[in-house]
Amino acid sequence: MKILFLDQSGKLGGAELCLADIVHPFKANSLVGVFSEGTFPDYLRQRNIPVKILTDQTLDVQKSSGLLAGLKSIRQLLPLIGNVIRLSRQYDVIYTNTQKALVVGAIASLFSRRPLVYHLHDIISPDHFSATNRRIIVTLANRATLIIANSQSSREAFVQAGGSPNNLRVVYNGFHLDRYAEHVKRAKAEEKEIFRNQIASTFIASKTGIENNIRPFIVGHFSRLAPWKGQHVLIEALQHCSDDVVVLFVGDALFGEEDYVQQLHQQVKQLKLERRVRFLSFRSDVPQLMMACDLVAHTSTAPEPFGRVIVEAMLCETPVMAAAAGGAAEIVEPGQTGWLTPPEDACQLADTIMNIYHQPALAQKVAEQGKAMAQRRFDVRATNAQIHQLLQAVLSAGKAH
Ligand code: UDP
Ligand code: GLC
Repeated sequence: MKILFLDQSGKLGGAELCLADIVHPFKANSLVGVFSEGTFPDYLRQRNIPVKILTDQTLDVQKSSGLLAGLKSIRQLLPLIGNVIRLSRQYDVIYTNTQKALVVGAIASLFSRRPLVYHLHDIISPDHFSATNRRIIVTLANRATLIIANSQSSREAFVQAGGSPNNLRVVYNGFHLDRYAEHVKRAKAEEKEIFRNQIASTFIASKTGIENNIRPFIVGHFSRLAPWKGQHVLIEALQHCSDDVVVLFVGDALFGEEDYVQQLHQQVKQLKLERRVRFLSFRSDVPQLMMACDLVAHTSTAPEPFGRVIVEAMLCETPVMAAAAGGAAEIVEPGQTGWLTPPEDACQLADTIMNIYHQPALAQKVAEQGKAMAQRRFDVRATNAQIHQLLQAVLSAGKAH
């Protein structure tokens, strides 16, 4: 099967990591068209996945910006669309992975008469999108032969926004279980302790740090820095936790949220939490870091469409708590495979952190159950097989016409 994949982002977010795994089995005959250079095309090149930057214009490719604002100049867009029309004639299917890719892919599919697939990674609700953007996305997506939603929550929001349920299927993100199994094995050994000690020592160091004989309880937060990812809620909660609880923020502002980053640093300073909070920026060793944590916290203030980091923490066998909404609530069974707390409730968050802190045996049991469940439900071999089957059906339907 020859597929032209389209993604607007040059940055490596969850939707792009998910796409890279989907493309892999098709890479011999397929191409990923990206609208800007960056860490995502680099990530694909490192995996020998063919990638092409489709425009040299600086489009506003931020995910959060308005579709109309981002695509404001049709003159600017025309070469890109022309490019995609020409390219798509060499492929059987156009597979779009982001909203602006959907706009370009939908127009191109009209001209090249190739079936359109849309992978929906977002919750199309007022929390995340303006009314105009919701209308554009839904209208164009309704033209697709297949829409793959990353969770039931994304599916429901899409239908509620006027999306057609007919060609809509839910496929969760898949994960390479072997990678985590390998890490877990190694992590069980002294490496985990060494790595943990390295992290802990950054908190213990200096006179103002945590006392030398105290083992900090490390809460990890793995996400790009963005207001709706709720890093500020965790900082607020930290002041209600005991002094040996510390927080590691892993992730960068990917889509221009510099003001928010400033705000977070200020909040840490105001609450005098400097010695208990570290910002590590973007890291490519997320599993190792997760395994070094006592707890992974997910704190999104708006419903999370899926939440890769929650599953990743489970696969690392690290206890995980998440904000009870969207995909997170589909992944976590509270008290069995993790914990859920109401979004934006810093006091509840602090209570739950302290409950887990005080019950290490229970936390370990829940983490083990979380891992077993994640291995059953989110194996990339199974999710890729589902997608392969759906794409075969798209092709067969195309041939029947
Ligand atoms: N991630 C990463 N390095 C970081 C922070 C995050 O590789 O420093 C990865 C993380 O492991 C996860 C993805 O980025 O696979 C984020 O996906 P998620 O679905 O949790 O959220 P998104 O940012 O896509 O909304
Ligand atoms: C998007 C969503 C995130 C999801 C990811 C992969 O980036 O924000 O919740 O896990 O796509 O589907």
